[in-house]
Amino acid sequence: MVSKAEILGEQLIGRITGRNPDYGGILAQVTGAQGTAKTSVLLSFTKNTIKTNPNEKCFWREQTNAPIQIFKLGLDNITFMIPKGGRVIFRDRSSQLEHIKIDPVIEFTSLRDIYDLAEPGKANVVFFESPFTWMDFIEELREVGEWVNIFIDEMADIAPAVSSGKLHKKIRDFSGTMGAVRRCMMNVFYNTQTAQDIDWRVRKKVMMRVFLPGAIQEKNCRVTQKAIDNLLRDPVNGNEAYIDMGGEFGITKFADIFKPVPGYHIEAHIVPKEMVST
Ligand SMILES: Nc1ncnc2c1ncn2[C@@H]1O[C@H](COP(=O)(O)OP(=O)(O)OP(=O)(O)O)[C@@H](O)[C@H]1O
Ligand SMILES: [Mg+2]
Repeated sequence: MVSKAEILGEQLIGRITGRNPDYGGILAQVTGAQGTAKTSVLLSFTKNTIKTNPNEKCFWREQTNAPIQIFKLGLDNITFMIPKGGRVIFRDRSSQLEHIKIDPVIEFTSLRDIYDLAEPGKANVVFFESPFTWMDFIEELREVGEWVNIFIDEMADIAPAVSSGKLHKKIRDFSGTMGAVRRCMMNVFYNTQTAQDIDWRVRKKVMMRVFLPGAIQEKNCRVTQKAIDNLLRDPVNGNEAYIDMGGEFGITKFADIFKPVPGYHIEAHIVPKEMVST
């Protein structure tokens, strides 16, 4: 028998790809212990968004100096975007970090360029010289006036809990943008192992929370720590997760299993400024 929590879980998952103007955009946070499929859940959201809303543009954030995970979505579904100027390069970790050419790569010169040049119906994987530029880019996307989807793997790199000076102010402005996603036809999905690693001003704006096994419960959520601790880890059929949104919560299972792609040990690397000839 299907439980009420399973029905609600399915309805809440449906909000991710559904486009009801009465609801607006979503800011969603995925947490869980190491290796509990946090990145895979974002890949699953990306895959479903591309399939359900192929006319929309999707932007994906990857860490640098680590194997690129978006390859798990299949090359047909990806476009890479890098700043013009040669500071972002690709290297093969399985052959002594040899430089490799990735095809196709779109080079951009401005933030607006990125939106204009991005391909709808694909994951546009954007690399910046600094991860904080993501805050400026998302601010820019606020203005485009059509549905846009942003997927951030490891949000703590972008809006960390500990910051000072200019960065602290920048995150404050960014948290304002995060508070506006519902009204801006913008969906932002991010993951982090622990919510406390993210700036609290951003965290306060989160509308949907996905708790994977090992996640830590957060204040004002309906899901209890005991319930999270009982979530099943299932590498064959997919891990269970609780979804909490607006005072409701449901349970779901992420049946898409994204395993590492054999042979793809490619990473993006930022070349130090003094090493680029201009
Ligand atoms: N839906 C899923 N359910 C259960 N296991 C999965 C699922 N998708 C992938 N896996 C397995 O779990 C491993 C880890 O997945 P993933 O990299 O998404 O986790 P993560 O939480 O992002 O890890 P990290 O803490 O290193 O960032 C994968 O290599 C795969 O074998
Ligand atoms: Mg991960």
